[in-house]
Amino acid sequence: MNIVKVNTSSHYEVKIGSGLLASIGQEVAAVTKSKITAIVSDTNVWPLYGDIVSNSLKNAGFAVVSYVFEAGESSKSGTTYLDLLSFLAKEHITRTDCIIALGGGVVGDLSGFVAATYLRGIPYVQVPTTLLAAVDSSVGGKTAIDLDCGKNLVGAFYQPKLVLCDTDTLNTLPKDVFQDGCAEVIKYGVLYDAALFSHLQEKGLDFDRESVITRCVELKRDTVTADEFDTGCRMKLNLGHTIGHGIELLSSYEISHGKAVAAGMALVSRAAQHYGLCSAEDTAAIIDTLTLFGLPTQVNYSPEMLYESALSDKKRAGNLVHLIVPRAIGNCEIRQTPTQELEAFIKAGF
Ligand code: NAD
Ligand code: GLY
Repeated sequence: MNIVKVNTSSHYEVKIGSGLLASIGQEVAAVTKSKITAIVSDTNVWPLYGDIVSNSLKNAGFAVVSYVFEAGESSKSGTTYLDLLSFLAKEHITRTDCIIALGGGVVGDLSGFVAATYLRGIPYVQVPTTLLAAVDSSVGGKTAIDLDCGKNLVGAFYQPKLVLCDTDTLNTLPKDVFQDGCAEVIKYGVLYDAALFSHLQEKGLDFDRESVITRCVELKRDTVTADEFDTGCRMKLNLGHTIGHGIELLSSYEISHGKAVAAGMALVSRAAQHYGLCSAEDTAAIIDTLTLFGLPTQVNYSPEMLYESALSDKKRAGNLVHLIVPRAIGNCEIRQTPTQELEAFIKAGF
């Protein structure tokens, strides 16, 4: 097992390894004073891992209640949010009790936002079961639900008490969902770590999961420690996301987040090459690696359509868009791009 310590406004550990679900009871007992644990999960994850988590918590002396919602992004909604709050109130969950978020990023984001707001904040533990949740959403305290007019528009920064990542859970992931998480893993290599990127180039989908997840969590830890509230360097984590969010929106979320981010990363890399910011060799390496992982590198929407949807990105500040641009593998910069230059930048990436 590897442990990454996160020292943000509150301090917690991310534990990464095989077989960790069986000891979740002891782990939760070590970080909370809870009597009741409320497990929140979705309809795909609960049948696979509900029993092992419940039994471990019961064996450690906790009373256990569970709330399971329909799997999928459409459940990260105000409706599920309010329903879950009511469930907690009916179960007499108190301020010292604890939520266990057992699932991918949808479960984690929704549970985290409920934990941030129920009784003005109760403890929660992230138990990521997708690669994306393991390397990104479970760490750093961003919690959110979606509105009909956009993703993650309501949320809070609220750090968990513990992140417990059992790498065995990744064995039941559909390949497609695993590949989505790989886009975020490749992103960390492009952003910060040429050695990680080389490992991914060499191993492809057979990369060493425990060490790669640990490295990504360390990189995310370093980023969120430096900029917990996303006003500076944390924005770099949005590499590929400005275009990616546009692609997701234009496809009415038929194209998954990971695939949209992959295509967005490829586009900004080609544009960076066009403007002489990134070498042809590094741009080709980014595109070839995305392809190696079965991820898309082309976009099926026109530059004009992408430009329009990129303008609705919530990270826009006035007439400036913060574009994250590769300069080399392991080195990216935040370029404050006036919206009137954005369309030309997007065109250059085609
Ligand atoms: P997800 O939670 O919808 O999971 C993807 C699918 O995999 C679902 O059908 C789920 O039921 C299933 N699944 C999960 N674990 C499984 C397992 N071990 N075995 C079999 N099936 C399993 O999606 P995701 O990709 O994990 O997360 C996407 C969400 O994360 C989005 O809502 C996005 O906005 C959010 N996100 C948040 C942050 C953050 O910092 N908070 C960062 C990135 C993404
Ligand atoms: N996933 C982006 C962030 O945590 O800032």
